[in-house]
Amino acid sequence: MKVLVTGGMGYIGSHTCVQMIEAGMEPIIIDNLCNAKDAVLDRIEALTGTKPQFYLGDIRDEAFLDGGFNQHDIKAVIHFAGLKAVGESVAKPLEYYDNNVNGTLVLARSMRKAGVKSIVFSSSATVYGDPEVVPITEDSPTGQTTNPYGRSKYMVEECLSDLFNAESDWSITLLRYFNPVGAHPSGTMGEDPQGIPNNLMPFIAQVAVGRRESLSVFGNDYPTPDGTGVRDYIHVMDLADGHIAALKAVGEKAGLHIYNLGTGKGSSVLEMVDAFGKACGAPIAYEMCPRRPGDIAECWASTDKAERELGWKATRSVAEMTADTWKWQSNNPHGY
Ligand code: NAD
Ligand code: UFG
Repeated sequence: MKVLVTGGMGYIGSHTCVQMIEAGMEPIIIDNLCNAKDAVLDRIEALTGTKPQFYLGDIRDEAFLDGGFNQHDIKAVIHFAGLKAVGESVAKPLEYYDNNVNGTLVLARSMRKAGVKSIVFSSSATVYGDPEVVPITEDSPTGQTTNPYGRSKYMVEECLSDLFNAESDWSITLLRYFNPVGAHPSGTMGEDPQGIPNNLMPFIAQVAVGRRESLSVFGNDYPTPDGTGVRDYIHVMDLADGHIAALKAVGEKAGLHIYNLGTGKGSSVLEMVDAFGKACGAPIAYEMCPRRPGDIAECWASTDKAERELGWKATRSVAEMTADTWKWQSNNPHGY
């Protein structure tokens, strides 16, 4: 089965392509490489023995997308392409709405022309804002987002929901990721952020490998067991498998399908620091700092719906998340 994967050269997309090939699917990648390196393709080939077809281009280029759909008998689209840095989105809202919202509209239009009406969209737990109760279920309120990135994800969810309301033969799957971390267990593929990492795990990994002096822990006065923020970290390989489970279970069923992809378990910043220290064999240097504006205290997923309807459940532990990240970072200290 041929599946168009937008943003397939990026962190989550590349791991998903590996798992798709292992599952007998044929990913066709579109990526403009604004946040990825072309070396990724060779790594996918080294792991799977298959080099996926890759088209360099932008999802906002409708003629380019039309060409891709004309050349291949695409059955479904997994839509990862987008910009994802929260801080940058505050400084560059127009770029974020153009890439994430307009990009999705162009893609959906091109899909409709080609008669491809199955899309799996990379959404985020950020659409839930600051949750009133945890664990967060799929029918918890959404839309109270705190930055343009989060709003762009929420807007795309709304646009795709409206599309389904108007044209009920679409299969639209919104996957709300919690905190993806980790790397391929081979240590040959992983997250390769440009510049100073915004997210916890890549920052810790760069401290461990000696690229940064110490981690700033953003706040130790939250109402959590140790005072630091609690998140639902999910191994990127589990996340990748979640996409395949979603495609299989609901990708051919008309409907608006919404699932959390998380583990159902929260870990604090200090627990992650401690776990990483164990994985790399040395303590991670850190200092306590003020809270980061916009951060919430805690968030983790209810995983019941995905388990029940997709037959999918995250299985990899925090120890595996940190061990695999360390293998990737220590083998590739400067990324790809
Ligand atoms: P990433 O930046 O590694 O991957 C995104 C890929 O899309 C990159 O390879 C980039 O070059 C490409 N891209 C961006 N804009 C494009 C465009 N206009 N045309 C073509 N290609 C384009 O990010 P990721 O962590 O793999 O995230 C994938 C998706 O998952 C994103 O939509 C992101 O918002 C979403 N998501 C990520 C997280 C996370 O913490 N990583 C959490 C929730 C949701
Ligand atoms: N943190 C630190 N120091 C750092 C980085 C992070 O203490 O240098 C803390 C944060 O305060 C938070 C936790 O580590 O308590 C996790 O922070 P991340 O930046 O790794 O992740 P967030 O939960 O803030 O956000 C992530 C993605 C968003 C996405 C959201 C929900 O970055 O894009 O998960 O899916 F929307």
